[in-house]
Amino acid sequence: MCGIIGYIGKKEALPIIVEGLKRLEYRGYDSAGIVIIDETNTPYIVKTKGKIKDLEEKLNFKKIQGTFGVGHTRWATHGEPSDANAHPHFDCKKEIFVVHNGIIENYSRLKEQLQKEGHRFITETDTEVLPHLIEKYFKGNLEEAVRLALKKVIGAYAIAVICLKDPEKIVFARQSSPLIVGLGKGENFIASDVPAILGYTKKVIYLDDGEMGVITKDDFQIFNLDNQVVSKKSHYVQWSLSQAEKGGFDHFMLKEIMEEPGAIQNAIRGRIMLEEGMVKFGGLENVIDKLKNIDRLIITAMGTALLAGRVGEYMIEEYAQIPVEIENASEFRYKKPMLRKNDVLLAISQSGETADTLFATKEVKRKGVLTLGVINVVGSSIAREVDAGVYNHAGPEIGVAATKSFVSQLTILALLTVFLGRQKEMSLVMGRRILEELLKIPDFVKQILAKRDKIKELAEKYQNYQNFLFLGRKYNYPIAQEGALKLKEITYIHAEGYPAGEMKHGPIAMIDKNFPSVVIAPKDSVYEKMISNIQEIKARKGKIIAITTEGNIEMGQLADDVIYIPKTLEMLTPILSVVPLQLFAYYIAVLKGLDPDKPRNLAKSVTVE
Ligand code: F6R
Repeated sequence: MCGIIGYIGKKEALPIIVEGLKRLEYRGYDSAGIVIIDETNTPYIVKTKGKIKDLEEKLNFKKIQGTFGVGHTRWATHGEPSDANAHPHFDCKKEIFVVHNGIIENYSRLKEQLQKEGHRFITETDTEVLPHLIEKYFKGNLEEAVRLALKKVIGAYAIAVICLKDPEKIVFARQSSPLIVGLGKGENFIASDVPAILGYTKKVIYLDDGEMGVITKDDFQIFNLDNQVVSKKSHYVQWSLSQAEKGGFDHFMLKEIMEEPGAIQNAIRGRIMLEEGMVKFGGLENVIDKLKNIDRLIITAMGTALLAGRVGEYMIEEYAQIPVEIENASEFRYKKPMLRKNDVLLAISQSGETADTLFATKEVKRKGVLTLGVINVVGSSIAREVDAGVYNHAGPEIGVAATKSFVSQLTILALLTVFLGRQKEMSLVMGRRILEELLKIPDFVKQILAKRDKIKELAEKYQNYQNFLFLGRKYNYPIAQEGALKLKEITYIHAEGYPAGEMKHGPIAMIDKNFPSVVIAPKDSVYEKMISNIQEIKARKGKIIAITTEGNIEMGQLADDVIYIPKTLEMLTPILSVVPLQLFAYYIAVLKGLDPDKPRNLAKSVTVE
C-alpha cells in the first residue's frame, strides 16, 4: 500500500526515482508524485492522479536536474485519488516535503489543532498533518523536528522527508509500514521494498518499528524516537534485477505463473531427505523440540495465503494427525482466542507485510504461543516477528494477484506435513511416498503450462458471462475459492467459490444456462460426489468447465469443456488444479482489455487494516 523511494547521491535523481516508482507500482497506483531538489535548492514538484506512466507524461520535456529527491505511488485511504491528494505533501511555506505510506489515525485532532495555530491545509489526506507538524517543530535540524513530530502521531507510517532549510539529506522513519535503506557508494536510497533499488545496490538495512534515521550521499544514521543511536546490520539481497522485470512477457502475472515450476523447485530445494522420508527446515531447527509436543496448529493469513492455509489444514490433519484451525487474521486479532500451552501459530504471507497477519501474529506471540511463518520476502516484518520460519524463495512477486507464491505456499505446507507427521505417527513409507510425488510436481505444472493455449480458448469462449460458480471438495474446496478470487479480482466478473456439497443449500438457485460452473473434480476420494453435483448442474442447464485427471474419459461426456491435469496424490492435486484457474482468469482479463497486474482498487501489499 503506497510505495516510497528516495535517492541522494551524485547522479540525476529523476530517472532513478521514476524507475523505482515503476518497480513499486504494485503497491498502489491511483496517483503518484515526486519532488526533486536542484543545485540552487529549488524544489520541483510534479504530482498527478493516475499511474506512473501518467506521471511520466506530465514530466515529459521537463528537464528537472537535481541529485536528491523522493517519489511516491499512492493507494488512497483518506481523500480520493487526485492531483492535490497525491504525495509529496508540504508545509505552509512549501519548504518541507513528505511522502508517506500508512495511516495517521489521530490526524483529524492534529489537523484541528494545527489549523487553530494558523497552518493552512489544501488536501483531504491524513498525511498532510505531517509536514505541518514538522514545520511546527523545525528549529534548523530536520531529524529533530521529524522526531518531535512523530512523538505526537498515532498510526502506521513509513515516511521520507526533505527540507529546503536543512538540505542534502533525507530523513525517514518507520512504524508498522515497511521501509528499507539501500547503501551505495557515494549514494544512498530509501524504499518501501527491495525491487525499487535492485538496479543500484543489493546492500540493504531493514528498519524496525520505532526507528528513524537520515541518509546523506556518503553516510547514514539510524536512531529511535528517543534519540538513541541504533546500530543495524546490513544484509545482502539475493534477488536479481531480472527477477523483478517482465523478461519479455506482457504481464508480470503471466511471467509469474510461468515461473511456478521453478518456484516449487526452490521451495523444495535442499529440504527433502528422500531416504529417511524426512524434511529438513533450517529455519525450524531451533524450535524442533517444541514442535514435537505440538497439540494444535493455528494457521492465520489473509486472501490467497489464507486459502493456502486451508489446503494445509486438510494435508496436516489427514497425514500428520495434528488438529489445525484456520483463522482469518483480520478477525483473529480482535478475537479472544482460547490458546493452550502447546498451540503453535503459523502465519502465511507472501509479502510478510500484511497488517492483519502481522498484528494477529504479534498478539498471539505476546500471549506466549510459539509463532512460525511461511514468508516469501526475506527481512519483511512478519519474517522478523515470528520465532522461527520457512522462506518460500519464490523470488519477487510483482503482479498484484498472488500466483507463484500460492503454489510455493502449498509446496511448503506439503513439506511441513511430512516434517510434522514424521515426528508423530507418519510411516517412513508414507513420508517417502509424499516426497517422491512432490518431486514430480514441477514437471506436472510444466505440462499444464504447455497447454495454456487451450485455456486461452476457454477464456475466449466464456469471457462474456457475468457470473461463475466454482466448486470443489476436500483439498480442492479452497482451490474453488481461489479460482473465484482470481477471476473476480482481475476480471471484475462475479464469482463464488463453494464446497460442492454446499451448492444445494442455496447457490444452486442461481444456476441456469447463463451461469457456468467451474468444477474441480480430479479422480480422488470425493470424485463420485463431484459427479453427482455435476449432474445436478446439468439438470438445470448450467454449463460446466471441469478440471479432472488425465485419462478420465467419462468427464468428456459430462462437461461442456474439460481441462486435464496429471495424476498425482490427492493431497497434492491443489498445486496442479489451481494453475489452469490462474491462467483462465489471466486470459479473460487480457481479452477484456484489463491490466491483470494492476486490478482496480487493489494493491499488492495490504499494510493497513
Ligand atoms: C489475491 C492476493 C491477496 C493476498 C493477501 C495476502 O490474489 O494476492 O489476497 O494473498 O493480500 O497477502 P500476503 O500473502 O502478502 O500476506
